[in-house]
Amino acid sequence: MQKKNPFSIFITTFLPLFVFFFFFSILTSASEQDLLLSFKSSISDPIDSLSSWTNSSHPCTWSGITCTNSSPPSVLSLNLQSLNLSGAISPSLCSLPSLAHLNLAGNLFNQPIPLHLSHCNSLTSLNLSTNLLWGPLPNQMPLSLTTLDLSYNHLQGQIPPSFASLQGLQVLNLAGNLFSGALPPSLLSNLTDLLVLDLSDNPSLVSGIPQQIGKLGNLQQLLLQRSGFHGGVPDSFVGLHGLEVLDLSQNNLTGNLPLRIGSGLGKLVSFDLSQNGLSGPFPADICLSKGLTSLSLHTNLFSGSVADSLERCLSLERFQVQNNGFSGDFPSGLWSLPKIKLIRAENNRFSGGIPNSVSMAVRLEQVQIDNNSFTGRIPPSLGSISSMYRFSASSNGFYGELPQNFCSSPVMSIINLSHNSLSGSIPELQKCRKLVSLSLADNSFIGKIPASLADLPVLTYIDLSNNNLTGEIPPGLQNLKLALFNVSFNRLSGRVPSSLISGLPASFLQGNPDLCGPGLPNSCADDKPKRRSTRPTGLICLLISIAFAAGIMVVGAGFFVMYRSSRQKFHLSHWKSVFFYPLRVTEQDLEMGMDEKNAVGSGAFGKVHVIRLPSGEFVAVKKLMNVGILSSKALKAEIKTLAKARHKNIVKLLGFCYSEDSILLIYEYIQKGSLGDLICRSDFLLEWRDRLRIAVGAAQGLAYLHKDYVPHLLHRNIKSKNILLDMDFEPKLTDFGLDHIVGESVFLSSMASELHSSIYMAPEHGCSKKATEQMDVYSFGVVLLELVTGRQAEEPESGDSINVVKWVRRKINMTNGAIQVLDSKISKTFHQEMLAALEIALRCTSVMPDKRPTMFEVVRSLQSLDSKNRPPRLFSYEFSAHDEHSDLSRT
Ligand SMILES: *[C@@H]1O[C@H](CO)[C@@H](O)[C@H](O)[C@H]1NC(C)=O
Ligand SMILES: *[C@@H]1O[C@H](CO)[C@@H](O)[C@H](O)[C@H]1NC(C)=O
Ligand SMILES: *[C@@H]1O[C@H](CO)[C@@H](O)[C@H](O)[C@H]1NC(C)=O
Ligand SMILES: *[C@@H]1O[C@H](CO)[C@@H](O)[C@H](O)[C@H]1NC(C)=O
Ligand SMILES: *[C@@H]1O[C@H](CO)[C@@H](O)[C@H](O)[C@H]1NC(C)=O
Ligand SMILES: *[C@@H]1O[C@H](CO)[C@@H](O)[C@H](O)[C@H]1NC(C)=O
Ligand SMILES: *[C@@H]1O[C@H](CO)[C@@H](O)[C@H](O)[C@H]1NC(C)=O
Ligand SMILES: *[C@@H]1O[C@H](CO)[C@@H](O)[C@H](O)[C@H]1NC(C)=O
Ligand SMILES: *[C@@H]1O[C@H](CO)[C@@H](O)[C@H](O)[C@H]1NC(C)=O
Repeated sequence: MQKKNPFSIFITTFLPLFVFFFFFSILTSASEQDLLLSFKSSISDPIDSLSSWTNSSHPCTWSGITCTNSSPPSVLSLNLQSLNLSGAISPSLCSLPSLAHLNLAGNLFNQPIPLHLSHCNSLTSLNLSTNLLWGPLPNQMPLSLTTLDLSYNHLQGQIPPSFASLQGLQVLNLAGNLFSGALPPSLLSNLTDLLVLDLSDNPSLVSGIPQQIGKLGNLQQLLLQRSGFHGGVPDSFVGLHGLEVLDLSQNNLTGNLPLRIGSGLGKLVSFDLSQNGLSGPFPADICLSKGLTSLSLHTNLFSGSVADSLERCLSLERFQVQNNGFSGDFPSGLWSLPKIKLIRAENNRFSGGIPNSVSMAVRLEQVQIDNNSFTGRIPPSLGSISSMYRFSASSNGFYGELPQNFCSSPVMSIINLSHNSLSGSIPELQKCRKLVSLSLADNSFIGKIPASLADLPVLTYIDLSNNNLTGEIPPGLQNLKLALFNVSFNRLSGRVPSSLISGLPASFLQGNPDLCGPGLPNSCADDKPKRRSTRPTGLICLLISIAFAAGIMVVGAGFFVMYRSSRQKFHLSHWKSVFFYPLRVTEQDLEMGMDEKNAVGSGAFGKVHVIRLPSGEFVAVKKLMNVGILSSKALKAEIKTLAKARHKNIVKLLGFCYSEDSILLIYEYIQKGSLGDLICRSDFLLEWRDRLRIAVGAAQGLAYLHKDYVPHLLHRNIKSKNILLDMDFEPKLTDFGLDHIVGESVFLSSMASELHSSIYMAPEHGCSKKATEQMDVYSFGVVLLELVTGRQAEEPESGDSINVVKWVRRKINMTNGAIQVLDSKISKTFHQEMLAALEIALRCTSVMPDKRPTMFEVVRSLQSLDSKNRPPRLFSYEFSAHDEHSDLSRT
């Protein structure tokens, strides 16, 4: 670190002098310049952000420093956020006599909170957010603090009651850490100046919300979401008069809300209690004075007095209470608040209706009240709210006709009124040009499907099933790019537009005995006999189109046209092939191989077919969609890069073919199938020696990709299904590096669509932008857990569908738990080895990426288990002589 730094010369030559100055600075007061240079010397500054910090200029001119106006000026604040600084935070800072603001947020400091900070007597604001700080909170902090932000680190342990002595504190942010235990009540009783208290994202902070919270009368923001809070919402909430943002969502809160809660929360802007276990009636007065409830159904009675009556919630913009067990009437005053934008109350048991006064909610954008017991009519004034883009009220008891102007908002995108008791005809909807999804299923609508639906340019999902609609399906609907068009179980009649028949599953038309057309039970009376039997082709088209409907969501509508033009059959003449081995595959062989019967499995990216070549050899062919982000030259280069990875634990890529819309990757065929297939068999039985062999081999393959192979590759999809086994149980990794072929965004969305792959994904997967080796290590750790426990990553039959990582973590905390997780089918003589393997697996699946070992360390540890009974294996890479010469490119 110091070699390249010009400053290091200073340090090495003048170090004794420097040390002297350092102690001198503690005794007397060294110059601020020296103190800061001493701070600089203890940290590493990879992007040289502190280059202006030299002894030839005044500190007040240095970057990140602000000084007082006094003479001589003195350092007032030090702001070095987001500079990738690391190293040790030097105590010299606290000798700066006027330092009031210290902001080191967004760096890479990896240490406990420095104890000496408590001596920073003039410090009023300290921001160490988003570093890698760990360990417990110190008992002492500078008493002068008004702002303390330690959020998003890895701090743990109890929040010390001694923090109650920080009585000047206005902002306390401890979010995103690993704090545990209960919240000390004394903390809340004393910190009466607090404006912001943020304890969110601390899942092990398992605590009730202390009554004393009500003493924080100045509090403006209380953020306790996604932590372990349980028990009730205390009555004392009524005292939080200044609260603007209240977020208690995603905790384990239960019980009823305090009845008078509404009278306290007058300044609320955002109110979020979602995803808890709260129940009982919602206080009716939450946003309403007494007496107004009865008036709220009659718009004409609102006059000048309305503003006074509603003043309690005049600022409320977001109201979220979804996924609880609330019952009773929904507070009707909410519907007419002037600033309300979002109302979410789905999955409760609320009753009541939507009053016509909803027209006063002129900023309303989103309403989600599905799965409740709302009743009444949909008020005509709803249509006049021009900001509304989502109205979702399925599974309620709404009845009557939809108002004619129901869909007048120019931004309306999603309407879901399915599973209600609505009747009458479907109104014309041509005003909402942005409508994407219209679901009116399971009501009692009658009359025709409005032809004007065909004029809505982005309409993609239409569900009108289970109504009483009559007449023909408007032919114009063929022009829409529909991903879903379900009109099953109505009384529709006449000819179905042909592209709707071929493009959609038959089940979306069933239950309409009077519909006719090719492929339907009835052919239309005026149909001339067709040249060929349309049924099988229709069926194939149907199958392809279903697959396509799933695909369209991933790739976007742009590929619609492209796919349809080629969906008849692969035009193999348009294919180009590149083989890395002398394979004798013809277009016909491939065509045969694409048969459904040959499909042996399908992953996130496509089906795998096993094809027997005329020579008797088998190959496995994986079909990917060619999303066309790479030129064919770049595509060839990327696949060649993957193909050159040669190792005994990596499946060989023999060649590939590509066309405008597909890529076929040809792999060597591995006889025994995948480890995943083995584990999910009910009679799964594999000796420990073989399991260990699989673990070592898979680890070697991965270590090879990570470090030995150039360019280094990440696998990114390690799971037991992607570890194939040959006859000797030698494992071979497949499916690696597909992100190089399909591109990052398709890769991520395909992975996300795969049901169980998330179990193998490291916890940081969602939040970190970049894929890392440590994520592969995590996935490998999950496989190792499967081997040690003999359980699948997710046991399908077990009711709580708990994944193996959680299951093991839960069990091993008990006495003898570690022994209990070992696969009982394996003899006790191997317990020592299995326990050692379990420990490696646990380190690999550590929540903190930097606690995980590298794959090389894993290989070494696993081999040391193996070596007790066998001679150590050496790495052996099988570099193939075919590499360059057999590139029998044909175009
Ligand atoms: C400033 O630092 C340089 C080396 O970085 C040193 O040679 C010089 O003597 C220092 N000047 C003072 C005034 O300390
Ligand atoms: C900090 O480091 C990360 C990688 O460690 C890099 O992606 C980022 O650009 C760096 N930030 C700055 C400001 O250089
Ligand atoms: C601390 O710094 C982070 C990063 O710049 C910033 O987002 C946050 O608002 C700061 N905290 C306070 C309390 O100002
Ligand atoms: C809480 O405040 C009281 C009076 O303001 C003070 O005497 C007490 O020491 C404080 N508690 C803590 C733990 O600092
Ligand atoms: C919530 O509480 C229930 C019962 O006390 C418990 O089983 C569950 O694990 C808790 N959930 C969370 C997320 O803490
Ligand atoms: C409907 O809401 C209830 C709670 O009132 C919940 O238990 C149930 O799971 C929800 N149904 C669906 C389909 O989400
Ligand atoms: C509409 O609501 C129903 C029932 O809640 C749900 O099953 C369906 O997925 C929703 N449709 C859309 C498009 O969101
Ligand atoms: C549809 O209409 C028929 C005849 O008018 C009626 O018997 C039936 O109940 C209706 N079905 C629904 C679901 O409304
Ligand atoms: C493990 O057990 C200890 C003591 O039995 C308990 O305090 C701790 O919360 C447990 N940890 C987990 C993750 O369950």
